[in-house]
Amino acid sequence: MDRIRIVGGQRLNGTIPISGAKNATLPLMIAGLLTEDTLVLENVPRLADVSQLQRILGNHGVDIMIAGKRPGENGNNGRTIHISAKNIVDTTAPYELVSKMRASFWVVAPLVARMGEAKVSLPGGCAIGTRPVDLLIMALEKLGAEIEIDGGYVIARARKGLRGGEIVFPKVTVGGTHTALMAASLARGTTVIENAAREPEIGDVADCLNKMGARISGAGSSRIVVEGVAKLNGARHAVLPDRIETGTYAMAVAMAGGEVLLQNARPELLQAALDVLAKTGVAVTPTNEGIRVARNGAGLAPVDVATAPFPGFPTDLQAQLMALMTRAQGTSHIRETIFENRFMHVQELARLGAHIRLDGDTATVEGVEKLKGAPVMATDLRASVSLVIAALAAEGETMINRVYHLDRGFERLEEKLGACGAAIERISG
Ligand code: EPZ
Repeated sequence: MDRIRIVGGQRLNGTIPISGAKNATLPLMIAGLLTEDTLVLENVPRLADVSQLQRILGNHGVDIMIAGKRPGENGNNGRTIHISAKNIVDTTAPYELVSKMRASFWVVAPLVARMGEAKVSLPGGCAIGTRPVDLLIMALEKLGAEIEIDGGYVIARARKGLRGGEIVFPKVTVGGTHTALMAASLARGTTVIENAAREPEIGDVADCLNKMGARISGAGSSRIVVEGVAKLNGARHAVLPDRIETGTYAMAVAMAGGEVLLQNARPELLQAALDVLAKTGVAVTPTNEGIRVARNGAGLAPVDVATAPFPGFPTDLQAQLMALMTRAQGTSHIRETIFENRFMHVQELARLGAHIRLDGDTATVEGVEKLKGAPVMATDLRASVSLVIAALAAEGETMINRVYHLDRGFERLEEKLGACGAAIERISG
């Protein structure tokens, strides 16, 4: 298993290109199941989760062609992939595949919408909490699917096709909204989705579906209206930049000091997080090319933050902010309101010398004068990267184990940070 070794204390200076968003790429690839034509996605990041979803879609009979690098293209541009679900040969998504990546459960929606049936394994436990799928199932039922749960599988049937309906989510759910959008696009009649998630990735998927011939309006607001169509066609769509990767590197710069341009980043995708960074005393400047982040000399002020659905502060940046606040000059409070158990990084940060107290959903972080390198490991993607951030400012060497979590969601992390002066290397084996 690969490990990452970081020796802290180097400032970061230079440019970090921001990749296409993982959490848009995954539902966009799944949307390829909705049409027998080819869906071409550009700016697709090179991530383990993308390869895993490729295997899952392959199991349904989807052909995926990944275009090679063109002459003159640098490795910073994402890849272009061609997804063709002309013949769906199997509507079952087995446990062995779904249990490796929760988002693959979302195939249930396009499969039942297009094929009239789907049998998809329940995703099971997950390192960041119980994460049920009851609201995804509710959404499909509102569109006329009959649902049965048998042997750990959700079996969804709509022999005569789905029909439009009214879906009111009792709580904001990204996966629920993706499910509802994809299913409603091929349902007969009109669907209204209330209390829809407003995350930018929802808007990106809706844009792509509209290019495929769907009739979706209101994506990006809490009320989305979908006029179902009989058939969707192929399209070409470029994945939007990853706001979580952007926020992560912004916090890395804030932690290490220095000045970095986050190239292609779009401030409106993470305004709440940028506002928090500005409160800590970090200079955040939008430019034509992206976002410039700088901290030169000044200390970090503590902040009080609660995670919330978009446009609030994202849960996917909670661990990274906590790492940053371990070095603040004072006490911060960070409340996690989305997932009940997303604090696995706390104990690992403590190994580096952080002072963090947990009380229910709130972490109280007392800034310390210095962190000290140590061997650490983490159990999920964002927790792992929070350890990278802490290690950049820790004295001496930090060895991060279980790097495969990082590879799920951060493209060429050690290269991107290394190019800006971080002392970071991957140790294979
Ligand atoms: C998406 O997960 C993201 N994943 C997560 O990113 C992200 O943390 C999360 O949204 C919140 O922003 C992808 O986009 C692939 P939810 P999702 O449904 O859709 C509860 C990362 O690190 N809920 O919005 O699974 C749920 O338990 C990942 O990249 C139900 O109760 O999240 C949670 O408390 C991790 N019943 C809340 O809703 C349901 O049926 C929000 O979850 C569904 C969800």
